[in-house]
Amino acid sequence: MSVVAPGAGFALRHMVEADLLGVLAVENVAYPYPWTEGIFRDCLRVGYHCLVAEPAPGTVPWLARAAPVPLVGHAVMSAAVGECHLLNLCVHPDWQGRGLGRRMLLRLFSIGRANNADTAFLEVRASNRRAIALYEAEGFCEVGLRRGYYPAGNRREDAVVMARPLL
Ligand SMILES: CC(C)(COP(=O)(O)OP(=O)(O)OC[C@H]1O[C@@H](n2cnc3c(N)ncnc32)[C@H](O)[C@@H]1OP(=O)(O)O)[C@@H](O)C(=O)NCCC(=O)NCCS
Repeated sequence: MSVVAPGAGFALRHMVEADLLGVLAVENVAYPYPWTEGIFRDCLRVGYHCLVAEPAPGTVPWLARAAPVPLVGHAVMSAAVGECHLLNLCVHPDWQGRGLGRRMLLRLFSIGRANNADTAFLEVRASNRRAIALYEAEGFCEVGLRRGYYPAGNRREDAVVMARPLL
């Protein structure tokens, strides 16, 4: 079942295999180094918590323009042994800055709590100021740095490791 957030113009629901084309369409325009279809399939197969956001036509007039786009965001998180790890949080560039990233993040916190996780972890590119601003605003603190973790053209970029309590 999906839930339309009042006034938000989108609905969050669990990702299924049939969503993968739409998920990849968002992933490929939002990231310079997107995940492959195989990675998303593996996440579904192993039972990670995978969400998609779809426009809710009719909730606000400008949604009509987004109608040909089946999905506008997605998120993936693993949860086990008292911890959850945010692995992907992605909003279509046309939909960024409307609160969708935060809403998906808050939904993942609820899912983490429901799975007895007391701490949430994530890694983010050190240059990704927008994502870091969101994570800090939602209670994450830097707890480490992985040097050269991400590809970045002909060099590597550091990952900032962040964590926050969920209880
Ligand atoms: C990072 C991302 C998920 C944020 O989603 P979003 O829907 O744009 O964010 P929201 O509208 O929910 O904004 C939440 C917060 O993010 C931050 N933010 C959003 N847009 C921002 C901008 N242009 N500049 C700086 N911070 C920004 C703010 O802290 C904002 O809180 P505020 O509205 O109270 O000021 C989205 O930009 C995205 O998908 N980026 C590409 C993929 C990516 O980098 N994912 C993160 C991987 S770790």
